[in-house]
Amino acid sequence: MQLSEYLAQADALAHDARALLDGLDPSTRLDVAKGQLNALKDERFNALQAALRSLSADDRRAAGTAFNALRGAIQEALDLFAARQAKGSGADAFDPTMPARRGWQGTLHPVTLVIDEICEIFRELGFTIALGPEAETEWYNFGALNFPPDHPAMELHDTLYLGEDTLLRTHTSPVQVRTLQRFAPPVRVLAPGQVYRRDFFDATHAPAFMQLEGLAVDEGISFVDLKATLAEFARRFYGASRRVRFGPSYFPFVEPGAQMDVEVDLNDGKGLRWVEILGCGMVHPNVIEAAGLDSEKYTGWAFGMGPARIAMSRHDIHDIRLLYDSDVRFLEQFAR
Ligand code: DAH
Repeated sequence: MQLSEYLAQADALAHDARALLDGLDPSTRLDVAKGQLNALKDERFNALQAALRSLSADDRRAAGTAFNALRGAIQEALDLFAARQAKGSGADAFDPTMPARRGWQGTLHPVTLVIDEICEIFRELGFTIALGPEAETEWYNFGALNFPPDHPAMELHDTLYLGEDTLLRTHTSPVQVRTLQRFAPPVRVLAPGQVYRRDFFDATHAPAFMQLEGLAVDEGISFVDLKATLAEFARRFYGASRRVRFGPSYFPFVEPGAQMDVEVDLNDGKGLRWVEILGCGMVHPNVIEAAGLDSEKYTGWAFGMGPARIAMSRHDIHDIRLLYDSDVRFLEQFAR
């Protein structure tokens, strides 16, 4: 065999081996690929190896170099195929046996869930939703609610003022007056909303928090309506066997004023105890009059509660700040 012929054959075999392996689908098993490669090359490869001996000493050196290059080229083509195969079974391969990734789904905040649940119970009792502004005037926030003019809550250092007469409302009770000004009795509303206090942010206080106000005004409404409605709410929210109790309390916008306690187990091994969940009372005649209604004709009752406190007693949460941290690992425990 001529040297030129030898070099041409070695070149052609390297080319054919590369073409075979490049043309294979990367899902082809490696042993199958090797089998096809051997079928293509073995005979020609062995013939080239045997032909080395029949060449002259000078030609043999050049041919030997070409033969080694052929061996390297075949190995390189095989390595390339193996790499393509590994990549093919990785990121962009479709593997129908792979378990699906867990989908991430948002949920409502535990305090929002409590508010929604309470609103739903009161909706069935005939209440609708009313909203009021978070920036409120002194008159709606205090004056119309029968706060005496020198009440300490109105002091600049006690309350967050936005200007002379405007402040961030300290409670949702101003919605009572705004509602009575807009709608003639019978009125039954629930007013959820954010309120603001000059409080430090600690385990039991937040400077901004949600409140839920309730108001029922009509002719002939009495304390019996208050007790019956709030006790029914507690039965539905906490369960029929839950005990509630009412005790006297003071707020300038109600007379008499009361608070409702519920017996709860905080899961701390100390058993049942009474926890105050809301303030309530008969709407003060001065408030009815401030809203422009005749207090001889109309009476009503009202309540105010903090849904964060209720969520905490329900879920055994001991630090209110957890409800503000937006830590999904904490919040997702309450997902519904
Ligand atoms: N506004 C009161 C507060 O922020 C809560 C409250 C008490 C509201 C008694 C009422 C009520 O409607 O009757 O502490």
